[in-house]
Amino acid sequence: MKMRKNIVAGNWKMNLTPAEGVALINEIATFNPAISGNNQVVFCAPFTHLSEVNKAVASWGNAKVLVGAQNCYYQPSGAYTGEISLDMLMACGVSAVIIGHSERRLYFAESNELLRLKVDAILAKQLMPIFCCGEPLEIRNANTQNEYVAAQLQESIFHLNAAEIIKVVIAYEPIWAIGTGVTASTQQAQDMHAFIRSLLADKYGADVANEITILYGGSCNAANAKELFSQADVDGGLIGGAALKAESFVAIINAMNG
Ligand code: PGA
Repeated sequence: MKMRKNIVAGNWKMNLTPAEGVALINEIATFNPAISGNNQVVFCAPFTHLSEVNKAVASWGNAKVLVGAQNCYYQPSGAYTGEISLDMLMACGVSAVIIGHSERRLYFAESNELLRLKVDAILAKQLMPIFCCGEPLEIRNANTQNEYVAAQLQESIFHLNAAEIIKVVIAYEPIWAIGTGVTASTQQAQDMHAFIRSLLADKYGADVANEITILYGGSCNAANAKELFSQADVDGGLIGGAALKAESFVAIINAMNG
């Protein structure tokens, strides 16, 4: 039986006001989706929303529902105008942080080397890093996506030891599928997830690899989540557009239950 966690994480990106975010969580809670056992839900909201989101999540009262941030800086404090520290995020109730989203890599020039520093800082605070990887369309068309994703993992997280890497959640997000309505086929998703797990097994052993949660992201929605999550190596999703509406997000949460 699969012991690792299943996670559905909503990535709101730069959407919603704080009040809209709170209203969305409250609406989702009224559906009372079953979130228990190995399943977790994370709301990754903009920084300005986190305190209010944390209150809304606390009033939901399900310990499996967590608050996440979409980014962080790795330095503890100092002259880094516009950046945010992990202590600041923790003071807002954050327990997970997305890093390396393709939009951060593309628009804000985040490198594998920077992400390596971020993952270390997040783990040092005992928070959950949600580490994103995934290839652009030209790499998929050239059929070199495995090498591309392997390099992302090797350069940003494979310096970790087994006790550390087991705490990392990996999100595979093919860039050509993000926000495009073009989802990877279940086979494409499963193939890449199995490949990522095989890399983890080669380096850390099968027992460690089997403990690591690997999420799929990229136009995952209410209609396709169940089939994607039914794949052996797909342990949930990182959800953008479909996380902004209560009904679709609830359907995706419920898809974790099979
Ligand atoms: P999408 O975004 O679900 O809107 O494709 C996913 C993501 O970027 O995390």
